[in-house]
Amino acid sequence: MVKVETPQSAAEIYLHGAHVTHFQRKNEPPVLWLSAESKFDEKSPIRGGIPIILPWFGARAGQTAAHGFARVKSWELADVAASTTGVVTVRLRLPECSEFAGFSPFTADYVVTLGETLELELTVRNSTGHGLLAFEQCLHTYFTVGDIGAVSLAGLQGTMYLDKVGGSHERVEMGEAITIASEVDRVYMDTRAAVDIRDGKLRRTIRVEKENSASTVVWNPWVAKSKAMADFGDEEYHTMVCVESGNVGKNSLTLEEGKTMTMKVKVEIL
Ligand code: BG6
Repeated sequence: MVKVETPQSAAEIYLHGAHVTHFQRKNEPPVLWLSAESKFDEKSPIRGGIPIILPWFGARAGQTAAHGFARVKSWELADVAASTTGVVTVRLRLPECSEFAGFSPFTADYVVTLGETLELELTVRNSTGHGLLAFEQCLHTYFTVGDIGAVSLAGLQGTMYLDKVGGSHERVEMGEAITIASEVDRVYMDTRAAVDIRDGKLRRTIRVEKENSASTVVWNPWVAKSKAMADFGDEEYHTMVCVESGNVGKNSLTLEEGKTMTMKVKVEIL
């Protein structure tokens, strides 16, 4: 694990999954949420923080693992550097992966920049000689909130989403602000807008801005699903919400041989 202290913030990044588990500005509550029940073993993804979902999102035919394999691989630490203002950049690299059927070999580079804000850049490169790479990706960010009942999410009004609770239904987001009072599992499509997580209890707004990401996923497991997950505390759903930036489902990506694409996410506290 890489522990980073900057003049403005502190962070922790595990090589397992290149997983940012902690980001906190000085004298403020943590921004990222991490489950007290997370397993931290080599086979399991860490529960909380920012799992890197790659190269598929959710379930995939012929694969036993959900959300791809990048989140359970050991990434290489390529570089750590500090700027004159104290902003720290950590670079991690997923070595060429080709062991899963149906994917062309690819590499991934992840740049995490820590200071006043948390900035993430995920670059995927289709290695040469194996044809097109079709993939999905998502930075599955778990945010700390004071109390889910005092939270609203803004930025998705008018967006079509796939509602995954109780089946799979297409709906359009009507409200200016989304509140959560039961299980929520929604894949918003064709949206590049920033999402504001307005937290009435912690009296702050977390803004999630993104580039080259056309999907936003909103997830809170609520009561029954929390109980069903071995690595998630029964009551922990009160203090988290996932706002995930990615390219999934009909927004999935295709890269030609030798080509790269970079998705960026910026997390800011207003
Ligand atoms: C979300 C999905 O992105 O991740 C949910 O939309 C899923 O359906 C959740 O339950 C957590 O997935 P996992 O594999 O980390 O338990």
